[in-house]
Amino acid sequence: MAHTDYLEKLEKVLVSVREKTDFVPRVGLVLGSGLGDFAKNINVSFKLPYSEIEGFPVSTVPGHDGRFIFGHIGDVPIVCMKGRVHYYEGYDVSDVVLPIRLMVKLGIKTLFLTNAAGGLKDGFSAGDLMLITDHISVFAPNPLIGPNDTKIGPRFPDMTEVYNLKIREKIQEIAYENDIPLESGVYCQLTGPTYETPAEIRMLKSLGVDAVGMSTVVEAIVARHMGVNVCGISCISNLAAGLNPNPLSHEEVQAAADEAAPRFTRLVSEIIKTF
Ligand code: HPA
Repeated sequence: MAHTDYLEKLEKVLVSVREKTDFVPRVGLVLGSGLGDFAKNINVSFKLPYSEIEGFPVSTVPGHDGRFIFGHIGDVPIVCMKGRVHYYEGYDVSDVVLPIRLMVKLGIKTLFLTNAAGGLKDGFSAGDLMLITDHISVFAPNPLIGPNDTKIGPRFPDMTEVYNLKIREKIQEIAYENDIPLESGVYCQLTGPTYETPAEIRMLKSLGVDAVGMSTVVEAIVARHMGVNVCGISCISNLAAGLNPNPLSHEEVQAAADEAAPRFTRLVSEIIKTF
């Protein structure tokens, strides 16, 4: 796809969604691998399967069944993405971030990203939750490569504070008040779909990476480009390759995410209520 086509595509999917709902969300929440159960906490107004939006990318990964859920957490109107598409599925990166751009067009002021990630930081264990303080994007395709439309955002967007400091402080306060342990660290997106080798993990660790995964960073970049506040939490579903005696499996990632789900759900709900 030519890079200039994405704006046209964005307008098309926006029209397609607006034909079905006039709901205006304040927060966009992206649920990562195995964390889809969170959707049970939403006072649902409207569900919209991605497959019903013409031209929308539909995920092929087991456990990533895709839909938007519009509704409320407390008094806060949210749109939740249950399932996201990944670059490794073969989509152009402009399609991977299309749902994020769409949520911004629908009205979100804050994007809350979640994912399952491999843990690198000393002391991390499977099931830990990690507040994302910053990211390393250089191993992922940059979603802003191509012509820039300044109506959407600047050509050279500042990335000094991708993950909003005030929101991070609030999240840490809420975790503390609710007695939910919360680590913090730097997240790095790789393309996948292979998990890393132990040598790659040693390299990433030496570069300052605390958690590694296959999503999130490209989404955070386009949201910041469009001027939306961003925050994110990783569920450490496994220790990264070589830090763990066992080979990695998608099933292990899902099982650890399931184990962390009640804590994660409580934390995310309490945070969103304050937005
Ligand atoms: N590496 C990359 N992505 C992941 C991992 C990992 O160890 N765990 C969950 N997603």
